[in-house]
Amino acid sequence: MASLSCGIDFGTSNSSIALAANNDIKLVPVEEDSVTIPSALFFNRKVQKTFYGRTAVQQFLGREEGRFMRSLKRILGTPIMKQGTFVHGRFMNFSEIIASFIVQLKNKADQQAGVPLTKVVMGRPVHFVDQDPASDRQAQAELEAIARSIGFEMVEFQYEPIAAAFAHEVNISGEKLALVVDLGGGTSDFTVIRLSSKYLSKTDRSSDILANTGVRVGGNDFDKALSLSEIMPEIGYKTTFGPNRLDVPLKPFHDLSEWSKVNFLYTPRTIMQVRNTLGQSHDKTRYGRLLKVLEQESGHTLLAAAEEAKIELTSQTEHIMPFDFLETGFHVTTQRTSFEGAISGDIQKITVSAQECLLQAGVTASAIDLVILTGGSTEVPAVQQTFRQLFPNAEIADENKLSSVGLGLAFDSKYKFG
Ligand SMILES: Nc1ncnc2c1ncn2[C@@H]1O[C@H](COP(=O)(O)OP(=O)(O)OP(=O)(O)O)[C@@H](O)[C@H]1O
Ligand SMILES: [Mg+2]
Repeated sequence: MASLSCGIDFGTSNSSIALAANNDIKLVPVEEDSVTIPSALFFNRKVQKTFYGRTAVQQFLGREEGRFMRSLKRILGTPIMKQGTFVHGRFMNFSEIIASFIVQLKNKADQQAGVPLTKVVMGRPVHFVDQDPASDRQAQAELEAIARSIGFEMVEFQYEPIAAAFAHEVNISGEKLALVVDLGGGTSDFTVIRLSSKYLSKTDRSSDILANTGVRVGGNDFDKALSLSEIMPEIGYKTTFGPNRLDVPLKPFHDLSEWSKVNFLYTPRTIMQVRNTLGQSHDKTRYGRLLKVLEQESGHTLLAAAEEAKIELTSQTEHIMPFDFLETGFHVTTQRTSFEGAISGDIQKITVSAQECLLQAGVTASAIDLVILTGGSTEVPAVQQTFRQLFPNAEIADENKLSSVGLGLAFDSKYKFG
């Protein structure tokens, strides 16, 4: 019988699954022809059905009635996993919600394989949670339990940047010392690894992997920075209230700028607090918009606008965000330079983690022959410049940014399960 296994990249923003059937290793189309699917769910209240991926995003953007969820990976290893939430009139914990998404991928791969798959290598960031080994172990254990709950019997894990390196290795001539820079939605991960197409038949790669580092900073943090610097001030962030001119509470603005927190903000208590503060606000126009956002439950629309602006600023130097749903004619204009200013602290953290990886590997930047840029956030021009400056002499590989981890995990499933 053919040896069958798969690799799953459950990403903060996008996911993929690849099948390894003997030596035939390929990505599986998971949403129509596409081999990647946005890691998004929409619980449609009217039809009481759950939608996934691009369909979920379309329903949410079309302002259908229901609950939108994204960035669920960020919840793994945090106390929110234990909380759960009400959807379709019943209590669901987040493990069930994540499982309902990942099983969509498994079903597609099972169909392609012709049998239910039981062996999987799941990708994981180098650190789910920074500087907290217990939460980090918990995050992986939660993901493993989810994989088992949907029918996987043998579950292994691999660091996402190592998987990205395996996916690129097939195209390499000669031996190369590579640095993988995987900047996703939730985390930035790095690996220094020796690559050669000659190693494709090698099953134990531990001596080729020189170091791994990672930090919980990613595209979601860029969205947050843009939201807080460009959008939130226009809805009352850092305005004042009352006779002592106190700052208005900051938490709602921070939560509105974080994909995994927006849903928890629409409580009667928060709305009441904001309404009370508004009575004494010194900027009723701006702060009044916050109340509207909470009452309309339209926080995700603002954050989606922040992400869209960020992506537009990759190719444009200026972008206009129209917010007519809040007020006719209300819009915010943003410049690439202000976005770069807002994320400079995040880029600094990313650079420190990359340099730490070189240090742990015991190599200098000039020893790196190849820099593999992968993950959607490596599209940001300031990120590209940073890495090209750090490695002026290295060759830069810059393709299949959203699917290389999934493909590499299937290569690894072949190494691990045979
Ligand atoms: N052209 C672009 N310019 C800037 N950012 C982009 C662009 N395209 C995608 N992104 C960002 O890339 C991120 C998604 O990248 P990717 O799919 O690699 O992440 P992920 O694998 O889901 O996350 P992680 O690996 O952290 O779990 C998002 O934050 C998205 O906004
Ligand atoms: Mg990723």
